[in-house]
Amino acid sequence: MSSQEEGAAAAGASPCTDMEVITITIGATVPTGFEHTASEEVKEKIGVDARISKDRGRIYFPITTDKLFQVHRLKSVDNLFVVVEEYDHYQFKESKEETLSELQELASKLPWTNALEVWKLNRAVKKRKAHRKGESSSSSKGPPDHEDKDTTLANTEPMEAPQEESSAEGQTEGSPDTDPAALNSDDAATKARTLKFRVTCNRAGDKHSFSSNDAARDFGGAVQEFFQWKADMTKFDIEVLLNIHNAEMVIGIALTEESLHRRNISHFGPTTLRSTLCYGMLRLCNPQVSDVILDPMCGTGAIPLEGAMEFNSSFYIAGDNNNMAVNRTVNNVCHMQKRRAEKGSTVPGLPIDTVQWDLCSLPVRTSSVDIIITDMPFGKRIGSRKKNWDLYPSCLREMARVCRPGSGKAVLLTQDKKCFVKALSRMGGLWKKLHTVWVNVGGLHAAVYLLKRTGASFGQTPEDVYESRGPVNTQMDNKPDEA
Ligand SMILES: C[S@@+](CC[C@H](N)C(=O)[O-])C[C@H]1O[C@@H](n2cnc3c(N)ncnc32)[C@H](O)[C@@H]1O
Repeated sequence: MSSQEEGAAAAGASPCTDMEVITITIGATVPTGFEHTASEEVKEKIGVDARISKDRGRIYFPITTDKLFQVHRLKSVDNLFVVVEEYDHYQFKESKEETLSELQELASKLPWTNALEVWKLNRAVKKRKAHRKGESSSSSKGPPDHEDKDTTLANTEPMEAPQEESSAEGQTEGSPDTDPAALNSDDAATKARTLKFRVTCNRAGDKHSFSSNDAARDFGGAVQEFFQWKADMTKFDIEVLLNIHNAEMVIGIALTEESLHRRNISHFGPTTLRSTLCYGMLRLCNPQVSDVILDPMCGTGAIPLEGAMEFNSSFYIAGDNNNMAVNRTVNNVCHMQKRRAEKGSTVPGLPIDTVQWDLCSLPVRTSSVDIIITDMPFGKRIGSRKKNWDLYPSCLREMARVCRPGSGKAVLLTQDKKCFVKALSRMGGLWKKLHTVWVNVGGLHAAVYLLKRTGASFGQTPEDVYESRGPVNTQMDNKPDEA
């Protein structure tokens, strides 16, 4: 069989249950900055070493096809694809015409067969998963209209090099919309249906003579000719990915239709954080059994909800001073509980409480919290840069009061780095900065700071004293550590 025939057979005809176990490479997009965290998760859950791509926000790892279902359980990954071919140092020609013609020729030479088998197997895995969830695989189409760009763009915005994304132009079929899941059926008519596809090119680097649009269009045209598939930008069965980062080029087939960060949240706010980023932040602070974990500026509750779902031996307290935010968190928690009950879970409610409070004056005992994890107002959509100069020092001080000296930790996300670093320097040694992860949140260059609460007693230095409340009564507040 020619590779074209094999590829077409893999995509349309051979039953996936007949598939022998093969080893393939999976590519995953992850929140930029959290590539190491994602690799750790892959090692922990799948037992293989992941390679971090030069292209920030991507990791690659090998798996055998019998473990394919496990990749959908990863919590750090946004999108998954199976690698068709990868080139570390692809020699792009200097002229646009030569490069594009080479890309066209490449389409027919690529080893598509295994990747297409995996794509097909993956549909069956997703179908089973959707069936277990009691919903159709197409029922969770995308984010609600009001979802904030912070969450939807976090991985597509340029960081270090200009990056562009483009999908191949293709004719839109007038044919009736067929359920792609039906491709796995043995129905002869379905097998015979021509697959619809699109090519998406993600390109980063300034030394290319072509645009992502050029590459997607010309490579896509050659793929179409080779497989005799139909191009369709919106209702496609197969998405072929052309990821180009400087001289690195990876060709893959998408295994996810929408980012896996879309979980947990049903009531969105103006700055809802993507669950994959929340997961990365939670892993950074390594929650332990019976830890008390506080998100004092919880917004829609994305961080504590992800914690309650994935690190459920700890207890989470979510608070915000805005009553709409508190309501959203309560609704999100209720929604997740309902979903679990519908799935037949007998586990009692999620380990999370929600409170309305002002972070600068928490109704929480001194030294009683193990971990504080929050996404601070950047001063753009929420608050203002000017207000941050007052808010950040008050925040860090109050967090230092409630956090256990010597063992407590804080993981804080902010884009207002200058203000944060200045406020931290004025904390009289209550916090020690252990690590900084640089992340991209909706195209904004932000930082996640991992802080350790030093052993210093709160209220012993002038810097700790609350301007707004007057001196803290250390006699009353500094009770010994109690749970
Ligand atoms: C960046 S948003 C948090 C978004 C959240 N991580 C989510 O996923 O929805 C910051 C939050 O801090 C809250 N906030 C600002 N000042 C506060 C204060 N003094 N006390 C408590 N919450 C505050 C805002 O109401 C806002 O919801």
